Amino acid sequence: MAEGKRLICGGLVAVLCGGAAAADALCSDPVLPAGDAAYGAYLAGSCRSCHGAGDPGAIPAIAGMTREDFAAALIGYRCGRRTHAGMQGVARSLGPREIAALAAYFATGAED
Ligand code: HEC
Repeated sequence: MAEGKRLICGGLVAVLCGGAAAADALCSDPVLPAGDAAYGAYLAGSCRSCHGAGDPGAIPAIAGMTREDFAAALIGYRCGRRTHAGMQGVARSLGPREIAALAAYFATGAED
């Protein structure tokens, strides 16, 4: 079984299996790939349960954030420079490609 797990982790799900390593890389060298806004639109569904749920006081709007601000916020949560348990969990569950895609999507001004 251990052998199989290693093979799986070396393949397509490397981002999930290598979460800690990916986090370290983004923390020391926060360079993101070009984002795919369409992929970001798809991923954004998981953000809507909180963002855009109608209480702007408790949860900040994220639609229309610049790509830079958005990426800085997510990397901040991921690396512990911003502390919020919920968002730290969200940011650590995403790979660089996912963060870049979400940054591209929300920068279009699309709704939360
Ligand atoms: C469980 C509820 C919840 C979910 C799900 C959630 N967020 Fe958040 N998010 C929050 C809260 C609460 C804050 C404010 C945290 C703070 O005070 O730092 C926040 C803050 C943020 C910020 C910083 C905004 C700013 O103006 O500084 C960004 C960017 C963000 N979230 C993006 C996302 C994205 C992208 C997703 C989906 C992948 C997501 N969030 C999912 C609750 C959530």
